[in-house]
This record gives sequence, structure tokens and C-alpha cells, in this order.
Amino acid sequence: MPETDREPFIFHTEGQAKFQIGNAFYRQASQVTRDLGVLAAMLYKSDTGSLRVIDAMTGCGVRTLRYWLECGADWIWANDSNPEMQPILEDNLRGAIASKHCQVTYTDANRLFFDCYNRRDYYDLVDVDGFGSAASYLSTALRATKIGGLLYLTSTDGRTATGHAPLNSLSAYGAYARCHPASQEQALRLLIGGIQQAAASMGLGVEPIFSLFTGQTYRIMLKLNAKPCITSINYGFLGYCHHCGDYQPVSWQKLGKVSCRHDDTPLIVSGPMWLGQLHSAEQIRRMQPLAQQLGWLQRVKLLAIMESEADFPPYFYTLGEIGRRGKMDIPKRSHLIRSLQALGYRATATHINAQAIKTDADIATCIRIGRLLY
Ligand SMILES: C[S@@+](CC[C@H](N)C(=O)[O-])C[C@H]1O[C@@H](n2cnc3c(N)ncnc32)[C@H](O)[C@@H]1O
Ligand SMILES: [Zn+2]
Repeated sequence: MPETDREPFIFHTEGQAKFQIGNAFYRQASQVTRDLGVLAAMLYKSDTGSLRVIDAMTGCGVRTLRYWLECGADWIWANDSNPEMQPILEDNLRGAIASKHCQVTYTDANRLFFDCYNRRDYYDLVDVDGFGSAASYLSTALRATKIGGLLYLTSTDGRTATGHAPLNSLSAYGAYARCHPASQEQALRLLIGGIQQAAASMGLGVEPIFSLFTGQTYRIMLKLNAKPCITSINYGFLGYCHHCGDYQPVSWQKLGKVSCRHDDTPLIVSGPMWLGQLHSAEQIRRMQPLAQQLGWLQRVKLLAIMESEADFPPYFYTLGEIGRRGKMDIPKRSHLIRSLQALGYRATATHINAQAIKTDADIATCIRIGRLLY
């Protein structure tokens, strides 16, 4: 199906939702983000018995339909700033509106968040699926989220957070982003770091439930906690050595001494960003049987990789870099992982890049082992 199939009166199906796209923005390729959102919301509802949702940038309303039909949401506030969405949206959401489970508005998402805050009306799940950077919603979306609730943020501005526009990343995250081979993971971590810092400034904290890079979009699902959890260890810097290709987290206290532990070359430094866990392994583990029951086998595979990468160091090595630096053919990912594990290192695939591994070994060890595989 084309990315934006604008023909009216054609019905599309995704999960249990049936909807028209009309003049709305809809990408079938983003279904994975909606599927994972649905799984997290299902768990939330079964844990707490409640699910009130804000779908702040709803487009054609597909997320609203899915949270209503698949997660049993009690109430959904669907919103889009574009009033031209009205005919298609209200047609798509007719059943949810008639069943008194949904209201639709056409306003700027930030106005909606402030309105919730003003009325002390806090939601279990706030889904913000905008274009470009999420920066202007980081602190405001928190204002509409219940303590213990979920916040699901999107960024499509990969250029900024992967180090191609470091001045923009200063504006967006108060952080300087540099380019390196693991920069897509950095983009997720800058986003988490940005919201962690915003939450901390309100005396709150966020815990990543999952962090997802789809190849185009960056998506983070966070739980809002009543206490700050930012520390100088989990919120800091990432150093990359252009000389040997190795990484090292850099704490605030060590900012004066940022050179490579192997060859003393000065590191290029990005941050501050989130250096803690990329996902909650426990929540991801609970999402897998649900996906299995629904027959979403691709999602089960994805979640298994996410579970295993959750607590690895905050970077990965691409097989291309290992091959290039070792002046050898690119090693097979599964062989390299198994060999590292056999030597006592931790090693896993990463969902962020199918041609990369995460490990606690340094890159020189990966190269040495890669050579032995031939
Ligand atoms: C990426 S599309 C949403 C896609 C939809 N959530 C889905 O899963 O198919 C982004 C939508 O946000 C709307 N939008 C952009 N800026 C907004 C803002 N500041 N407040 C509310 N809606 C906004 C756009 O009109 C567009 O429909
Ligand atoms: Zn080095």
C-alpha cells in the first residue's frame, strides 16, 4: 500500500481498526510503533484497571481506534491541530464517540496538555506522534500525564540527534550531539535524557519502558515516577575514539580527562544524554506472551532482541566498522556474538541496527575475535 493513500472511501485495516485515510497522514510502516504502544497499554490496563488516553496528534485516528478496541481504553481524547482532519476523523471515530469513550478536538497539543494540567486531569497514557523533533512537548506532555502513567513520544528528527546538526541538538536537548557509528542509539538516548531532565526539574523521574528505532522514527515509551531518578552516572556523556573506534561513557566529574583508555587519543564527546537502561527488561518480557497470543510473531522477535539489549553499554559496534578496522571481511553477527560469549563477554544483537552488536568487550577484542572466525 502506498505510504499515504489519499483515496477517500477506501477502508484500511490495522489490528482491529478499520479506517479511511483521506487527507490524513498515515504510514503503514509505522505499524510497529502502534503495535508496541498497544501491547504496553494492554499491560497497563490489566495492571491498573484503568486506561484514559490522550492521542495528541491523531491524524486519521488509527491509534485511538486501536487503544479503544484492542486495549479496552475507558476514555480517549483524540486531537489533531489540523481542522481539515475533521470529516475523516469523525467518520473513523464515529463508533468510539457514540459509545461515549472518545472526544475529538482540533487544537495545538501543548494547549491541550496545559488544559489538562490546569484542570488537574491527568492521563494514564499520553501519545505524542508528531513530525520532527519532540523537544517542544518534552516538559508539557509530562504536565498531562498521571504519576505512574505512560508517555509515548516520537521524534523523526534523526539528523539533529545523530550529530548532523549539533547546534539544533543544543536547542532541542541542551546537549551537543556528535556523529559516530552508533548515533541512532544516541538519538534515543538524547530524547530520554531530555525528558529525564525535564521531569527532574519538576521533582519527577521517568523510566524507559522501551526505546524503539524503526529506521525512520525514534519512539520512547516512558513511565512517569513520583521521584527524580537522574544521577551523574545515568545522565552523562558518551565519548567516541576516531582512532580505534571504541566508546566510553564519560561522567560529569571526568569531563576534564576525556581521552581514549587504549591510545590516549582525545575523544569526541556527545551529551549529556541518558546512559541508563534502554528498556525495562521486565516490561518487555511481559509484552512477549501478549504478542505471541495475538500471533504477532515479528513483534515477538523484536521484543526478544530488545529484552536482551536492555542493560548493555550505551553504544554498539557495527560489523562494518569491525571489518574495516580489522581489514577483513565483515564477520557474521551470530558467529561473533557466540564467540564473544564463549570467551565470557556479554554480547547480543541490537534492534537498532541489524548489522551491529552490543557487547561489553572493547572493539579491539571484537576485531581479534572476528579475525579468528576466518
Ligand atoms: C505523524 S502524523 C500522526 C499520525 C498518526 N498518529 C498515526 O499513527 O497514523 C502527525 C499529526 O500531527 C498533527 N500535528 C502537527 N503538529 C501538531 C500540534 N502541534 N498539535 C497537534 N497536532 C499536530 C498533524 O496535523 C498530523 O496529523
Ligand atoms: Zn582509541
